[in-house]
Amino acid sequence: MSADEREEAGPQGLASALTENGALSRDWLPAFEAVPRHLFVPDVIWPGRAGMNRQSDRVVRSEQPDTWWTAVYRDAPITTQWDDGTYTGPGRGKIPSSSSSMPTMVCSMLNELDVAPGHRVLEIGTGTGWNAALLSHRLGDENVVTVEVDRASARDARERLEAAGYRPTTVIGDGARGWPGAAPYDRVIATCSVGSVPRAWIAQTRPGGIIVTPWGPTYGGEAVARLRVADDGTASGPFVGSSAFMRLRTQRTDRKHVREYLKGRNWPADGSRSTTALSPDDVGEWAVMFAIGVRVPDAFPWMEPYEDGSYTLWLRDTAGTSWATADYEQGRDEYEVYQSGPRKLWDEVETAFRWWEERDRPGFDRFGLTVDADEERVWLDTPDALAP
Ligand SMILES: C[S@@+](CC[C@H](N)C(=O)[O-])C[C@H]1O[C@@H](n2cnc3c(N)ncnc32)[C@H](O)[C@@H]1O
Repeated sequence: MSADEREEAGPQGLASALTENGALSRDWLPAFEAVPRHLFVPDVIWPGRAGMNRQSDRVVRSEQPDTWWTAVYRDAPITTQWDDGTYTGPGRGKIPSSSSSMPTMVCSMLNELDVAPGHRVLEIGTGTGWNAALLSHRLGDENVVTVEVDRASARDARERLEAAGYRPTTVIGDGARGWPGAAPYDRVIATCSVGSVPRAWIAQTRPGGIIVTPWGPTYGGEAVARLRVADDGTASGPFVGSSAFMRLRTQRTDRKHVREYLKGRNWPADGSRSTTALSPDDVGEWAVMFAIGVRVPDAFPWMEPYEDGSYTLWLRDTAGTSWATADYEQGRDEYEVYQSGPRKLWDEVETAFRWWEERDRPGFDRFGLTVDADEERVWLDTPDALAP
């Protein structure tokens, strides 16, 4: 790759693409130009694909410099760590545990943060350090605190930040606790998702301040919430766009294997059979999963695919007491369902789907979230219209 090609396929090309799609605002352009992504991406990466939670094979910078460079300047997420660093092989681990987020998402969330000169910002999830560098450039090192739970990632990020000339406060620890040492903050931004907003973030944000965080139910579906903190210590606001972040480590759910639900018996074990007219294919899209997840708590889906394109949709509860299966085959108008345990999980999913359908299939932009000391409530259209 020539120097010109590198520049073309590099920071300039990405800045143009992000300006064109509206993610990179005029306010953030100087920071974006001053803090190129390649200074923060490690030498060993698993490039992702835009809009998909799938990674390509490992790329090592010294072996494939052009592939590495092209991946860094593509508008896509890049996995930088698997399985909390316990997987170090050449393939892929089980769960991506750190990444450089998709540039469109980075810029969109920074826009939602709506910072002004002098604002103090707390970031949860330092990752590569790129976002912390963008914030430090815009607001000054003294106004930025970034917390990372993974010791190795935090150490590497700190080194990269220093090499690029930035010295925000970098903290190693559980971001769920925030960082009271520098509170109150005007803004809190999380770059990992939560199923419940840590109350420490609200307590450490001044009234009128804003929290931008990806939020998603256990079931699936996720969107960025933009919450304003009120004088009474509650936080409320709309969801502003779909997202797919890795979960805050301390809020991951433990997912038991199907075998444990069947208790040594073969499927369908003690499951009771019924049929449904609702296609399992109609409940798998991200926005409908979110709506279902809000109404079907503590449960999660898993798809078991077959070679002919059919599949079984498994539903399981996190308590390990209930499961359901729904079999999908193309061209059918009736689908076989088995359910076992105190919760009738397919019935719950179907009821939630009908609720969503009757409200004209709302997207993320019609939902919002209110958090107080005791509860978290997702609402539809207005804060008093609960989606219980
Ligand atoms: C998507 S990455 C962050 C991207 C980062 N902001 C950047 O600019 O590269 C999510 C990060 O959140 C971190 N994380 C997960 N749980 C955390 C927790 N409880 N406290 C702090 N950081 C956490 C992960 O280790 C991971 O590095």
